[in-house]
Amino acid sequence: PPLEEILNLHDFEAVAKVVLPEKAWAYYSSASDDEITIRENRLAYQRVWFRPRVLRDVSKVDWSTTILGQKSSLPVYISATALGKLGHPDGELNLTRAAGKHGVIQMIATLASCSFDEIVDAALPDQTFFLQLYVNRDREITKRYVQHAERRGVKALFITVDAPQLGRREKDMRLKLVGDDAGAEVQRGQDVPKDQGVARAISAFIDPSLSWDDIPWFKSITKMPIILKGISTAEDALLAYDAGVQGIVLSNHGGRQLDTARSGLEVLTEVTAALRARGVYPSRTFDIFVDGGVRRASDVLKALALGAKAVGVGRPFLYAFSAYGQEGVERAIQIFRDELEMNMRLLGVRTLDELRPEMVDASAIHSH
Ligand code: FNR
Repeated sequence: PPLEEILNLHDFEAVAKVVLPEKAWAYYSSASDDEITIRENRLAYQRVWFRPRVLRDVSKVDWSTTILGQKSSLPVYISATALGKLGHPDGELNLTRAAGKHGVIQMIATLASCSFDEIVDAALPDQTFFLQLYVNRDREITKRYVQHAERRGVKALFITVDAPQLGRREKDMRLKLVGDDAGAEVQRGQDVPKDQGVARAISAFIDPSLSWDDIPWFKSITKMPIILKGISTAEDALLAYDAGVQGIVLSNHGGRQLDTARSGLEVLTEVTAALRARGVYPSRTFDIFVDGGVRRASDVLKALALGAKAVGVGRPFLYAFSAYGQEGVERAIQIFRDELEMNMRLLGVRTLDELRPEMVDASAIHSH
């Protein structure tokens, strides 16, 4: 269908399912084991209800924000997703061009199909990037990669901590890797297993020995703010706070890692409670992000009302460029804008700062 007929982010998924090659669809859409967590990522948002306020003069509404000190036109960033060229010949550059044009922040994946420099070279002069890091068994490679990114102007380092080994995504595993599979040259392991799906083939280099003891080393090699991506409990949120990092992403990796892990939205409520009990929430130096299953501006507003600084979105942008290239990503951004404008008016908030926990009823969040 023509792009004008795409009315919401779900529509991109439906089109992508039809137009994508089987292997790309399997890699992008799959989640681990019985795919219970990926479904829960959507359901969690449906268990939180709004408590809208009225008569608040919402003629002007503004959904722009600052994320880790960087301006963003949306409280949404493009989360790292690997292997963009499986879906479209221009791969991640579709995201870069659309994000630059519309003032959205892109998190570059270690396993992007396009090289890091190709992506940064395609950017507008003042465009903001974050970097997602899979930590290599060879720390020298990681150090060089991180320091190169910092020199090239990347503004924050998101270390993925929920993937000491990649989850079993069986839809993906049933399709064998052939040939090169669209890049991700960077840091690929030498002994590539070719019979276990795309995901496993490209991740052999990831270091499963990574631990809390490594955090000081990361702080010593970069001045970028460090954010731990893939926190799922209050306990680990407190450890992250104590480790002196600048933030955490409450994420289950889009349901692709530990199946039946809880949704980031549900975890958010226990994390803010634990930080508040410690007397360190809200904080100007420690931000909480959420990703997984965000498909509507209403989802974004719920996460922000409950204490997230911004939310990450993965698959919808992948599906958008797979089906429509850069224009698809621009349309997805436009849909977020339109929905934010309407939902903020209907909720009774003019700016994101006015969002409060009282504007949602999250009392059913833990009832599965
Ligand atoms: C991901 N994600 C991911 N995360 C990461 O830290 N490094 C990576 O290389 C990837 N690769 C990746 C590939 C694909 C195809 C998907 C769908 C996801 C996880 C991603 O950053 C994010 O956490 C989720 O995608 C968020 O969930 P939604 O928005 O896809 O529901």
